Amino acid sequence: HRLDRALSPLDRHVAVVGFMGSGKSTLAQEVARRIGRPFVDLDDEIERRVGSNIPSFFERYGESAFRELEATTLAAVAEGDPKVVALGGGAATLPDVRRFLRERALTIWLDVDVDTCWERARDSDRPLAQDETEFRRLYEERRPLYAEVADAVARDADDVVLAAARVHVERGALQRLGELVPGDRPVALVSDPHVAGIHGADAQLALGPRLAQTHELPPGEEAKTLAALDRLWQDLRLDRTGTVVALGGGCTTDAAGFAAATYLRGVAWVPVASSLVAQVDAAIGGKTA
Ligand code: S3P
Repeated sequence: HRLDRALSPLDRHVAVVGFMGSGKSTLAQEVARRIGRPFVDLDDEIERRVGSNIPSFFERYGESAFRELEATTLAAVAEGDPKVVALGGGAATLPDVRRFLRERALTIWLDVDVDTCWERARDSDRPLAQDETEFRRLYEERRPLYAEVADAVARDADDVVLAAARVHVERGALQRLGELVPGDRPVALVSDPHVAGIHGADAQLALGPRLAQTHELPPGEEAKTLAALDRLWQDLRLDRTGTVVALGGGCTTDAAGFAAATYLRGVAWVPVASSLVAQVDAAIGGKTA
């Protein structure tokens, strides 16, 4: 997971990658509808541009000519407003495409087991799904490439919509906080006495050596007072590469998010919401989460 990119995820294309038969186009279409963005299927777009279907193009010109087309078509599609793009299963084998995905897209890997992919692809005319052994070999070969480019792994449209909003939902995520907080720079953990008592030790353990300091805001609405904010501003010992992690309910995430946005010239922050209010309200707008 790389959540620390320069562009806000909402300015980026959402790119769905994954193996043949994983269901990328169906999923990407659903995501596009839900987030109100144009949908582009890269294979369809290629077919439209060359005026022939992919199997005949492969047969006539070979795989490397097809790969070139994939890269140039993706670059053309990426012009203009952010879209949801379903890539072909092999696009991620191209270094240019991988660079594009890292720099310009929020890339979602639709990770589906090989048996399911094969069942769906075996009777199709896809040139690289004609032989089961080769299909399975390619599947294994490409997994590291999908993993390399992916900002998030998804099983369904809900996962993608959450990832596009930079929301990470996972049972046990608190124990993985150290990996989930972007980058490797120091972290200030901000919570309130109640939540710190319940989850503070887990969060501290998970942040490990990155944890530079802890701070407790007063519980409830009092966190959102200038006095409480002033104590936090004075207490924070981060430089501009540091991250505030706000662990708690809506008041904690409101106050810590505000403090992070106004500390130095604004530092990154990650809300770790411990209540529903914090999840649906106060956490939205976190700079990187
Ligand atoms: C390919 C996957 C296909 C299509 C072409 C090559 C691949 O797209 O681009 O047949 O190399 O995996 P889907 O993944 O949409 O089937």
